[in-house]
Amino acid sequence: MRASEEGAMPTARGTVEPTTTIGAIDRRVFGSFVEHLGRCVYTGIYEPSHPTADADGFRADVLALVKELGVTAVRYPGGNFVSGYRWEDGVGPVEGRPRRLDTAWHTIETNEVGLLEFTRWLERVGAEPMLAVNLGTRGVQEALDLLEYCVIDSGTALSDLRATHGRREPIRAKVWCLGNEMDGPWQLGHMSAEQYGIKAASTAHAMKLIDPDLELVACGSSARSMPTFGAWERTVLEHTYEHVEFISCHAYYWERDGDLASFLASPVDMEGFIAEVIEAVDEIKAAKGSDKTISLSFDEWNVWYLTRHMEQEAITGIDNWPIAPRLLEDQYSVADAVVVGGLLIALLKHADRVRAACLAQLVNVIAPIMTEPGGAAWKQTTFFPFALASRLARGEALRVPIACDAVETERYGTVPVVDAVATRDLEAGTGALFLVNRSVTESIEVAVDVSALDATVLTEALTLADEDPYAANTKDDPERVGMTTNASAALVDGTLTVTLPPVSWTALAFATSA
Ligand code: AHR
Repeated sequence: MRASEEGAMPTARGTVEPTTTIGAIDRRVFGSFVEHLGRCVYTGIYEPSHPTADADGFRADVLALVKELGVTAVRYPGGNFVSGYRWEDGVGPVEGRPRRLDTAWHTIETNEVGLLEFTRWLERVGAEPMLAVNLGTRGVQEALDLLEYCVIDSGTALSDLRATHGRREPIRAKVWCLGNEMDGPWQLGHMSAEQYGIKAASTAHAMKLIDPDLELVACGSSARSMPTFGAWERTVLEHTYEHVEFISCHAYYWERDGDLASFLASPVDMEGFIAEVIEAVDEIKAAKGSDKTISLSFDEWNVWYLTRHMEQEAITGIDNWPIAPRLLEDQYSVADAVVVGGLLIALLKHADRVRAACLAQLVNVIAPIMTEPGGAAWKQTTFFPFALASRLARGEALRVPIACDAVETERYGTVPVVDAVATRDLEAGTGALFLVNRSVTESIEVAVDVSALDATVLTEALTLADEDPYAANTKDDPERVGMTTNASAALVDGTLTVTLPPVSWTALAFATSA
């Protein structure tokens, strides 16, 4: 551990060695999530009357921000929404599409946007789809119909129907989620692990008869805190192991009762969660004597002030079904963004097993991008660590063991004050180091030996921090918070040095000679 003298700034030291390689980074870990929920779709990505709207009704200002965010995959259309969704409602002439009750969020779904509109938008973003099938109120046949509609070239009823809807070429969707959070009592059609395992296995089996190359995601527990967590994963995988490639993980964190220290340590919980899911997966692998390794799809993660959501007056009443109301519109602070940055470090530290992940969600709903109907779009604080990590974390991830002080936290016990992960892209000759300082009060001087990576020149040093950890970007002050150049950073004789302010997240990029 570090030895800081009385009164001196605490220090932390680390070393990156090629032998500490974790694994190749799957670009899909920089995924996000668009659910038909609140204003994510309507007045979020889509608003035909907006001054920047394109011919298809998509907001160009939002599209530009989504591209800048660097999202690589987008999960769609839910979430809880998918468990009552009929995909057929969202295709064909818009005038003929039904308005439906969405019982998950107690709203009206107009179906103005459906699969083909979403696909067109996603192609403009340049990201890959991660589509979910409804295993709540529906089953194998509807999943097969949707798959046929999407992936078959032509010559069948549903692929030809797609062509009559204006899209000849198939939708090349590889990753499919088999339902959503089916362990949750709030989920439409929720079921036991046994029931879900059987349903997911038969759906997966059938879907692979159409396309054996699909990558399928079985629902894991909807949270680590679910009473059935662990047992759910084991039972589901007993049924689905040979049929799926992924098991899902969902986690949301928020600051509780003003306990910032615990909140900043949330990534420790995420890592524990990942370790326990891997343990469950590998136990079933061993029991089955399988050669196949199942990966984790962390397809919902973020900061979400769930308690605020619970406290808000719920939309209820048989006559009260609003269209695209303001739901889950959390405003994020610097501290929230530091936690998001820390969670990204946690995901990269498990790059060998976490091969897909989705920041939930993308626009307006617990989102890095906010919009006003008819007005501006702006970046929340959480936009910055995600955009930087997506741009810089390429190639492979490497462990960075750090010797540093520890912080006592009420929720997660003693945790290291600094956490870090390194990445390098051998082909591009670049590398990056991502660091978080979880101290609420102290700056820390960090030195990390990156000589083994043949680091030559520091090319970027950016930090997210603020005198006020609760500072945020708002409609009236949309640029209050951003990344700033960290002038303390240097690369000398293969060692990166930098001072990390309290409650901060930092990205250092460098060129390598290798
Ligand atoms: O992301 C918001 C909601 O959180 C999703 O609809 C659901 O899957 C989860 O509980």
